[in-house]
Amino acid sequence: MNENLRIAVVGATGVVGTEVISTLLDRDFPAEQLTVLGSERSEGEELEYGEETLEVEPVTPEAFRGVGLVLLATPADASRTLAPMAQAAGAWVVDVSSAFRADGNVPLVLPGFNSELLNASFKGRIVALPSAVTTALATLLEPLRQGFGVAQVQVTALMGVSSSGNPGLRELEQQTAALLSGREPEAHVFPQRVGFNVVPQVGPFMANSPWTEEEAGWTLESARLFATKGEVPVVAGTAVQVPTFYGHGLSLHVRLKKPASVDQARAALKGSPALKVLDSPGEKIYPMPSLVTADPTVHVGRLRSFPQSPEWLTLFATVDNAGRGAALNLVEAGLRLAERTA
Ligand SMILES: NC(=O)c1ccc[n+]([C@@H]2O[C@H](COP(=O)([O-])OP(=O)(O)OC[C@H]3O[C@@H](n4cnc5c(N)ncnc54)[C@H](OP(=O)(O)O)[C@@H]3O)[C@@H](O)[C@H]2O)c1
Repeated sequence: MNENLRIAVVGATGVVGTEVISTLLDRDFPAEQLTVLGSERSEGEELEYGEETLEVEPVTPEAFRGVGLVLLATPADASRTLAPMAQAAGAWVVDVSSAFRADGNVPLVLPGFNSELLNASFKGRIVALPSAVTTALATLLEPLRQGFGVAQVQVTALMGVSSSGNPGLRELEQQTAALLSGREPEAHVFPQRVGFNVVPQVGPFMANSPWTEEEAGWTLESARLFATKGEVPVVAGTAVQVPTFYGHGLSLHVRLKKPASVDQARAALKGSPALKVLDSPGEKIYPMPSLVTADPTVHVGRLRSFPQSPEWLTLFATVDNAGRGAALNLVEAGLRLAERTA
């Protein structure tokens, strides 16, 4: 790591920002080289960083002066303003929001999948990261693609409320408490009550489309990521809001190009260090959100196939949305980018 590197984390008080700070602490990044920034709402808030206390400062162009790397853990509308501001100050910028994922001038990078793009030349100094669901999808599809080819993927993502940040966490807490006290709760963050419910909508719908932005994002981001491998599977699915706090579950049907037995597929998945195979259903061992929190690997299990259609594989996976699906990608991509000299 560049010993003089200064890093700014924007959105440091959020679900993802908090994870970024603890990841940097785990990697012994020095407190005096770290600036934590937020909106005026969190200005002056104090964050513990090991033995040190960091004070959240408001974002201004001056705040980026002398900073080599800016990690943006902010909502997309804020990132659209802040990324160019940080870039203009000369910093490398990694953004975890959806703001630049579809922008052909901005590389879409999943560390460990297509990290080579971080060393390639590209316009500007901004890098986009995929969503947490796409992170899980790409991570588990890649060994299957290498072994058998992947033609098509149908996914249902059961998404914990932390994907809507601190406001999402608060709303599920409040709704659960209200329902347990016999009161009907109000829905503000989510389109419908999520407490003791399951809602087949996460985020807004695309204009004039039956697909939500989250769902359309998986198709587009997978296409961009797998284009770097020269083979793009068709990915489509449904995003479902479930009343859990952390972790996403993915129920998947994968159509392989070459039929594979469950044992062959399991062996391919086991070969990836980015995955943990939990697949002993008789012993009640399978992926669950409660097991994946704070784990940097994507968990996969419940592997099945159907004799009549041996090219289809059915499985279940989980990912720590705020950690593996966001904060680790920010830190890993950012530190690698900061090694670049220009
Ligand atoms: N949560 C996940 O699982 C996940 C996974 C992948 C990607 N993401 C993406 O990560 C980003 C952050 O999500 P989150 O879950 O951490 O949300 P969050 O808990 O709501 O946190 C948002 C953070 O951004 C700050 N912020 C908001 N507007 C700002 C502005 N104009 N200037 C500076 N700071 C601003 C907030 O500061 P204040 O506290 O001052 O408002 C807060 O620290 C979003 O783009 C989200 O889509 C999230």
